[in-house]
Amino acid sequence: MSDAQRATARQIAHKHLESGDPLGWFEELYALAGGNASIIPWADLRPNPNLIDWLNQHPMAGSGRALKIGSGLGDDAEELARRGFATTAFDISGSAIAWSRRRFPESPVSYVQADLFSAPEEWRGRFDLVVESYTLQVLPPNLRPDAARCMASFVSPGGMLLVIARGREPGEDEGRMPWPLTRDELSLFEAQGLKEISFEDYTDGESPPVRRFRAVYRAGGAV
Ligand SMILES: C[S@@+](CC[C@H](N)C(=O)[O-])C[C@H]1O[C@@H](n2cnc3c(N)ncnc32)[C@H](O)[C@@H]1O
Repeated sequence: MSDAQRATARQIAHKHLESGDPLGWFEELYALAGGNASIIPWADLRPNPNLIDWLNQHPMAGSGRALKIGSGLGDDAEELARRGFATTAFDISGSAIAWSRRRFPESPVSYVQADLFSAPEEWRGRFDLVVESYTLQVLPPNLRPDAARCMASFVSPGGMLLVIARGREPGEDEGRMPWPLTRDELSLFEAQGLKEISFEDYTDGESPPVRRFRAVYRAGGAV
């Protein structure tokens, strides 16, 4: 997606950030789109290739519970369900959740409108695979430690958290939304007691190519 195509999202994001409401812009953007996915910069209408690639390399016998954080229009959640996970997907935007349900009316995925920072208590420690892609990088830096704490809390004992994000060096300009993360920011998950079991730093196949971090963390306890 070009910078011009991101303009609307950036404008709405900045308006909310300047008014001290860093989470309000997602619903405004999805509602404004009114079913036109071309307004949503991250809506590719297909599962994330970085997720597909990881799932292909790590077949998990298609069992267990998966949680997709910031599920957008639902493609990643559908992919997890297709691979056999009992999948829950949530997004802060009610419009995004309603849109996902419209796109996938027969879906086995449980789509829930929820805020990461006040998610249902019963999700704590409940999921064998938690997938976070591109949500941390659209939250302002001051919210990321708490966001990482909340994300980590969903992982079951012995379960895994897969994180996919844009990457940058600490001294590099973070530019405009989306804001690439530093490796240090990903260590927020280890501060939550998860153990890093893999970390990849690579250039993806997008045009133009994007530097990605893809990391996997495991929670202690029974497997
Ligand atoms: C950059 S988008 C990525 C969407 C999806 N993961 C994808 O890759 O297409 C971030 C998503 O996180 C959602 N989001 C942002 N803050 C959230 C929060 N506090 N709780 C739940 N969802 C949130 C947004 O509404 C948006 O759909």
